[in-house]
Amino acid sequence: MKNIVAGNWKSNKLLHEAMELMNEVKSGLSDTLSTEVIIAPPAPYLSVMTGQAGETLQVASQQCSATGSGAFTGEFTSAMLASCNINWVIIGHSERRQGYGETNDAVRDKLYAALDSGLHVLLCCGESLEVRESGAHFDWVQNQLSHALEGLSNEAMDGVVVAYEPIWAIGTGKTASSQQAQEMHAFIRTWLTNRFDQATAQACRILYGGSCKPSNADELFAQPDVNGGLIGGASLKAADFLAIVAAAEKH
Ligand code: 13P
Repeated sequence: MKNIVAGNWKSNKLLHEAMELMNEVKSGLSDTLSTEVIIAPPAPYLSVMTGQAGETLQVASQQCSATGSGAFTGEFTSAMLASCNINWVIIGHSERRQGYGETNDAVRDKLYAALDSGLHVLLCCGESLEVRESGAHFDWVQNQLSHALEGLSNEAMDGVVVAYEPIWAIGTGKTASSQQAQEMHAFIRTWLTNRFDQATAQACRILYGGSCKPSNADELFAQPDVNGGLIGGASLKAADFLAIVAAAEKH
């Protein structure tokens, strides 16, 4: 199973800056990588960047709509992304759940829409500090996953990568320790085994996200159930992002 390192650029960079960053990342990747490398730039740049990303770099959208085409001003569908050769989409990021009212139901609808369009999904889950401190973090994550994956077949899970992103670690500089990450990732894999089957759970990549950077990536990726990372801030600097890719290559 290949590790994945995905850079979520969030709402950062103007077009010329984004192109420069993509080109720097692209030129730093060897052709023989065994890690899948993905960047998720802001939506207006997706089409132009996909055309120029080349073979080793894949492009993801940071979200998609839950609906099909129609009178939904401002939304873009997963089928539209697929028609632009975008093969990946991030769904259920905590910033969309918290800031844009994305419910567990909306996350499930988006996931189904994306898989129906043939996209691969980076499905985000993760608890707030309040939930962790109350000790309910495993229940919280289980609830998010069971909602998002409700009714999904084992075969359809081929298109799903899970990203565990504890909200208290996102953009705070406060990374989950490698033990905390491993503990939750192992919990998720066991849950996937019970919900689907062992082969499906073993084949599912589970990424860690939240203040992952060159100085801690190696230790995080060394954990048996951590199959790469979803990187925010450190993906905005090519050297840092490439160092994280190099860490994933070692494991
Ligand atoms: P940071 O790496 O900036 O903490 O962000 C993580 C994230 O939200 C990736 O989706």
